[in-house]
Amino acid sequence: MSPVTRAELESAYVKLSGPRTRESIASARTLAELEAVRVDALGRKSALTEILKGLKELTLEDKREFAPKIQALKAELEQLVGRRRAELESSADEASLQSLDLDLTLPAVTPPRGRLHPLTQTLEEMTRILSLMGFSWAEGPHIETERYNFEALNIPEHHAARDLQDTFYLQDVPLLLRTHTSPVQIRTMESVQPPLRVICPGRVFRHEAVDAAHSAVFHQIEGLAVDKGISFADLKGTLRTFLQSLFGSSTKTRFRPSYFPFTEPSAEVDVRCLVCGGSGCPACKRSGWIEIMGAGMVHPSVFAAVGYDPEVWSGFAFGVGVERVAILRLGVPDMRLFFENDLRFLRQFDENLI
Ligand code: DAH
Repeated sequence: MSPVTRAELESAYVKLSGPRTRESIASARTLAELEAVRVDALGRKSALTEILKGLKELTLEDKREFAPKIQALKAELEQLVGRRRAELESSADEASLQSLDLDLTLPAVTPPRGRLHPLTQTLEEMTRILSLMGFSWAEGPHIETERYNFEALNIPEHHAARDLQDTFYLQDVPLLLRTHTSPVQIRTMESVQPPLRVICPGRVFRHEAVDAAHSAVFHQIEGLAVDKGISFADLKGTLRTFLQSLFGSSTKTRFRPSYFPFTEPSAEVDVRCLVCGGSGCPACKRSGWIEIMGAGMVHPSVFAAVGYDPEVWSGFAFGVGVERVAILRLGVPDMRLFFENDLRFLRQFDENLI
């Protein structure tokens, strides 16, 4: 029964505000005990709630006088419960720490820090430079068709260039593992209209005997720029800037005439030997130069294969091996080291140090 008259309310209030409730809050020894005390004193069925309910039966005047008192009591009791809860919780934490037998004064064990693989670091540096030069990232599949890997790149069946590319063919289906990143040129041009500037970094596969300079799986970055009026001078300027950013601003570059079916004219690009500076050493086979990439002006047949008008558009393309750049930049003597993943080798290439 709710107390309804002022006298009844007064006596319920006096009982509740006496020391008993406060004492039972203070002496609760566990969180569960405290909760029981709280429900008893402040819960939905508590005397306090009953008093609050009874308030509306009072005269306005009595209500004005009495309501603030009961609200203040409620606030005070809630605060006491909150404080006791915090005490009990912190001593519970303490107790569980004690039982763990944990010595917080011991020095921390530093977990071993991971780092990016040197090939990833090299690839990221190369793509970072090219991105700054306005090239955006494009990707294509590792498993390709003959059309993308060869035909559309002006390498018809029985063309000698196919033999050079020791291809892995899939069994029973007319598919292969891409031998270079050049097929992404075709895929890109088929899906967007010029002008365009893309790089296509990725893994390529060749059926090759593995040695210090060869691996059956390696990485390339393809580049392609198509616009109106692009000339060989644009190609030279772009690659020289790229190579000087990569190997140092005093790096000398050289363009040698070469042949690739998908470019005309084609060039191989050399950098001045980073080991001997050009005087001749075993690293450059005494030539003073190190071949670093292939490049050229996009062949009109390649444009024709993707439906670009070669009379309107011109462009340049290039392909560069990531392992080769990593070997030169990091001074690694054998490509196999990149794939064996011996931690003693990998730990030397902290990205903060190179
Ligand atoms: N695809 C060639 C290879 O794997 C590299 C290459 C040379 C790419 C010349 C090009 C290029 O885009 O223009 O050997």
